[in-house]
Amino acid sequence: MHKIISFEQYKQVYKKSVEDPESFWSDIADGFQWQKKYDKVLEWNFRDPDVKWFINGKLNITENCLDRHLEKLGNKPAIIWEPNDPNEKNRTLTYKELLAEVNKCCNILKKYGVVKGDRICLYMPMIPELSIAVLACARIGAIHSVVFAGFSANSLVDRINDSACKMLITADGLFRGNKIVNLKEIADIALQQTKSIEKVIVYKRTGSEITMQDGRDVWWHDEMLRAEENFIAEIMDSEDPLFILYTSGSTGKPKGVVHSIAGYMVFCYYTFLNVFQYEENDIFWCTADIGWVTGHSYILYGPLLNGATTVMFEGIPTYPDAGRFWSVIDKLKVTKFYTAPTAIRSLMASGLDFVTPYKLNSLKVIGSVGEPINEEAWHWYDENIGKKKCPVVDTWWQTETGGIMISPIANVTPTKPTFATLPLPGVQPVLVDNEGKELTENNVEGLLCMKFPWPSIIRTTYGDHERCRLNYFATFPNLYFTGDGCRRDEDGYYRIIGRVDDVLNVSGHRLGTAEVENAIDEHPHIVESAVVGYPHEIKGQGIYAFVIIETQVDTSDEAYTEKLKKEISEVVSKIISPIAKPDKIQIVPGLPKTRSGKIMRRILRKIAEGEMSNLGDITTLLDPGVVEEIIKGARL
Ligand code: WT7
Repeated sequence: MHKIISFEQYKQVYKKSVEDPESFWSDIADGFQWQKKYDKVLEWNFRDPDVKWFINGKLNITENCLDRHLEKLGNKPAIIWEPNDPNEKNRTLTYKELLAEVNKCCNILKKYGVVKGDRICLYMPMIPELSIAVLACARIGAIHSVVFAGFSANSLVDRINDSACKMLITADGLFRGNKIVNLKEIADIALQQTKSIEKVIVYKRTGSEITMQDGRDVWWHDEMLRAEENFIAEIMDSEDPLFILYTSGSTGKPKGVVHSIAGYMVFCYYTFLNVFQYEENDIFWCTADIGWVTGHSYILYGPLLNGATTVMFEGIPTYPDAGRFWSVIDKLKVTKFYTAPTAIRSLMASGLDFVTPYKLNSLKVIGSVGEPINEEAWHWYDENIGKKKCPVVDTWWQTETGGIMISPIANVTPTKPTFATLPLPGVQPVLVDNEGKELTENNVEGLLCMKFPWPSIIRTTYGDHERCRLNYFATFPNLYFTGDGCRRDEDGYYRIIGRVDDVLNVSGHRLGTAEVENAIDEHPHIVESAVVGYPHEIKGQGIYAFVIIETQVDTSDEAYTEKLKKEISEVVSKIISPIAKPDKIQIVPGLPKTRSGKIMRRILRKIAEGEMSNLGDITTLLDPGVVEEIIKGARL
């Protein structure tokens, strides 16, 4: 009913969504199960900011993901789980089974005193129990905070402490290609620096030897065995928070992006249905990790709200070889596939020998998300995976937007390589210049903003509303600022260029330059550092670190400086995650700074890109000579 099936219809629906957003969104919201209907659709201002959707509505999102489907779809697979090891049996949970597991998990949470509004941290492998735990939190009214299992103990500490999580759900370990990561060991280190965690529930996945702390740690399987299969979903308000997800900004530590229940639900449902043109017999596979927003919205909530079958993959694209994605697509008869440009580029680099053994004839739509997709990768994906029969949907959005904002609607919107194309209904993008003046023409480039709220817009940054205001709503009055640069071409199509702030996008993972610099500076011999991104063939962006080391260290000793660089990488791994390790480290005598002491990253970016001849004005620098020195030592 809410599915758009022609380009003409898209244009009409879009127009209506702008002229009368409230009636547009309430039409969609009315298809859900409400405990009590909302009495007003929207109240908002971008000044505070204060945005509320479906005001005074009462509901539980899991009733809309699960209970609502039971009568018709009870025996339909909700989740198909594909393990890391292709020889391990995959697991399927029907809607009925998933609900029973979620209920059992709710009863465990209840037993340990979890109540509405509590924060629960999930630090888990990509296994069905992660999905069960996420949904159990939502059902009991606790706020889930999923931390990607690739993050370090230190990152876990920051995230647990920032939102004072009461409980941690984790596993003994996880499988990743041919590696085992001992998650519980990492969690134990983290828990020495947290005060709020009262209970730890541990799922046994790898059978690794671990220690269980008496009175604090309990086994998932022991608890589930005894848990009842019935649980009445907590009645929640539309604007109660559903989850917190930490993401990097240009300054400081990662911030907790907060999404609330009803708006997020409506937007996830609608965008999944339309962008991927959901059909009842689809097997939908989003290859992201649930530790990122893509996994929240398009492995879990979007598909389940539509009654779809969603695939959850534990492994990595290159294990046991670079054909794994394609083999799983054939094995599970995947119809809609959603992955990241970095994965596409790395598989492209492995060669077609890993693709041609597979038929891939079940595919109908293929998607891309997380970073700009370059023309070559777009065509490779279109030709070799979609066989030119599947529309490529290049979906632009952010953790803060909750769901897809600018994207083709499969088979509806004509696609154009490297273009996210057009805004979805209900999404009102504008491009502005540096002064915030709207660029109304086509064929322009500017800063991408939104001038009207959509249902799953960020509500706050946890515990620090001012940070939310400053980050997104203070740059330009009455606009939500995305941090992205963007071009609108002569047809009105949007092409995302990339971040204009100090945020890096490395293999689709978002990192702040300040965050990486702070980690590097923890090394005892580092005086100061500056980090910039540079174009990287596989990762999209690589990390280039310029570091100043203590004067007593002998920098002419090459063996020693190599060792030092290795140590710097280890420090970054330990403090943030291996994903944040610098690709290149250059030891420099100084950094280009203005007289007021600000690092001129613009110059460093040019050097990292190898564009030495085009550095712009450097006469305002405190010590222009330093630039010459840096160029001499550049690592290209
Ligand atoms: C940033 C958001 C969206 C979920 C995954 C990443 C970049 C995202 C695209 C795209 C070009 C994209 C933007 C954005 N980005 N999708 N299709 N084309 N750039 O979420 O970690 O919050 O990062 O990723 O720069 O601001 P995120």
